[in-house]
Amino acid sequence: SIEVDPDARGVEIGDRMYGIFVEDINFAADGGLYAELVRNRSFEFLPADNRAYTGMTAWTAGGEAGGAGTAATADDAGRLNERNRTYLRLDLANPDGGRYGVTNSGYNTGVALTAGGRYDLSLWARTDAAAGTPLTVALHDEAGAPLAAPLGLTVRGDGWAKYTGTLRATRTTDRGRLSVRAAGTGTLRLDMVSLFPRDTYKGRPNGLRRDLAEKIAALRPGFIRLPGGCLVNTGSMYGYDAASNYPRARSYQWKDTVGAVETRATNANFWGYNQSYGLGYFEYFQFAEDIGAMPLPVVPALVTGCGQNRATDDEALLERHIQDTLDLVEFANGPVTSTWGGLRASMGHPAPFGLTHVAVGNEENLPDQFFANFQRFRAAIEARYPGITVVGNSGPDDTGATFDRLWELSRATGVDMVDEHYYNSPTWFLQNNARYDGYDRAGPQVFLGEYASQDNKLFNSLAEAAYMTGLERNADIVKLASYAPLLANIDHVQWRPDLIWFDGDESWGSTSYQVQKLFMNNVGDRTVPTTMSGPGTQPQPITGRIGLSTWATSATYDDVRVTTPDGTVLFSDDFSAGAGAWTPVAGRGTWAVTGGAYTQSDTAALDTMVAAADISATDYDYSVKATKNSG
Ligand code: AHR
Repeated sequence: SIEVDPDARGVEIGDRMYGIFVEDINFAADGGLYAELVRNRSFEFLPADNRAYTGMTAWTAGGEAGGAGTAATADDAGRLNERNRTYLRLDLANPDGGRYGVTNSGYNTGVALTAGGRYDLSLWARTDAAAGTPLTVALHDEAGAPLAAPLGLTVRGDGWAKYTGTLRATRTTDRGRLSVRAAGTGTLRLDMVSLFPRDTYKGRPNGLRRDLAEKIAALRPGFIRLPGGCLVNTGSMYGYDAASNYPRARSYQWKDTVGAVETRATNANFWGYNQSYGLGYFEYFQFAEDIGAMPLPVVPALVTGCGQNRATDDEALLERHIQDTLDLVEFANGPVTSTWGGLRASMGHPAPFGLTHVAVGNEENLPDQFFANFQRFRAAIEARYPGITVVGNSGPDDTGATFDRLWELSRATGVDMVDEHYYNSPTWFLQNNARYDGYDRAGPQVFLGEYASQDNKLFNSLAEAAYMTGLERNADIVKLASYAPLLANIDHVQWRPDLIWFDGDESWGSTSYQVQKLFMNNVGDRTVPTTMSGPGTQPQPITGRIGLSTWATSATYDDVRVTTPDGTVLFSDDFSAGAGAWTPVAGRGTWAVTGGAYTQSDTAALDTMVAAADISATDYDYSVKATKNSG
């Protein structure tokens, strides 16, 4: 039974407490949330990104009966622009009829089409044929049977121009193909060959795949952390540099992702594949607004994490990234008369997006170097935009030296909010429900930016649900929480578990998706203190370390106690009797503490003691509280 005291008031829970974390991992963006149906639309898949790539990845060249020519990608002075450098060159040899061109196989099993649906085709082209070059754009199946009435276009002139048209699908399939074939002779250049369903989320052009966006919207997330993750903070820290051609695998830099899509230089991402940036910062902000979620961008801190552990010593580069971050705030919130607010307006959103939070960095494992940079970003943002909350982080783990150091630095300098990440076993989640009970209420606040119980089984989801009750009980200090990762293409799974799975035309949520949906759709105003008795409180063995993540390594303690939720002290130590003198409580199980020697002021030994809390106890619920006397 659960006893509820109707007069007792627990902590208040913020409406935005539960949110989502969108990262382009598992091919989540291109071929996923971003509704573009043509893979490698700009012919920028290069071996420098991924050795399996060629400029023709996902494309095959060929002709209709009688059609002839050659097809090759080129990066020369004939390019579309300096940021979209590789294009397709077709040398046509059809003086007597026939057409020659290329066919795109889309993502997963092919181009996904719905009977009756309209599909917007666009491409950039130029031709040196004086009379122009007639093009046929066709949707068909693998055998060539038509899936739409073909679209006819004529390319005229040897300067790049955009051509558009619409195709209407006659059949539903996930195995379609898109062909672009040209008649005549001469050289035809093609780039940015794009096909979008008209039926995107909220009908937005350059928009999101409706089923996936709707599944996300159905969660009713309070915020969206974006765009990573390891995606953000790794790779080359330099941005696009025309002089050195393409710097590949560069860190995620928001300016690469805005403006006209044909000017967004594609990039090999941290997860080893090409990202078109068609889904960029504008689209993310727009999506956040569409679903009523607070956007929470993460910017690179110029110290890489995720196994790379590099820190820049390039002061100018650091300054540039700090300025980029200020410009990001201007892009989101600035007036239309400002440089970056003006760009936002020109992209179709004159009103500000109302950005309130910016996170700097992700999982850096060089705590002091990271924190030095973080402080530079923080000072600049707070000076220019005092209303913005600057979020730090505690490294890649839920405990350990980096974690302790970053929390120590964050506490000492009054950081507003610290981002924690952990992926652990379901048992860990069950045993650590009280993780935040002992966090210092003076701050910083906690942003649990990434967590998941490590598998996609029902038990994992139940463990997460149980854990989330602990987050809610501590909602006065845990302000935001997001499961990770969000999306996975079933043909390109790089990380599991994931919340939403998809292929070319279908998507489904995991049981953890249902847990997140349940919590996000039912955020309470406040918690109600409860006590529980009955079978649910059956004795369970406690193993391993307890409460350690709450210890501050620089602190000393003068009272440690382990209690049940109803306040019963299981064992305690006020150190008055010297080291190792745990006080067992009668009737509360057998406690065998083998912590060895420790002293009141020796926190390392204190850790050893509690870690060794070789407590073979029979109690199920417990919490650890320590009274700090310094540090
Ligand atoms: O969520 C997947 C990855 O896990 C994120 O990119 C990273 O921050 C974490 O290690």
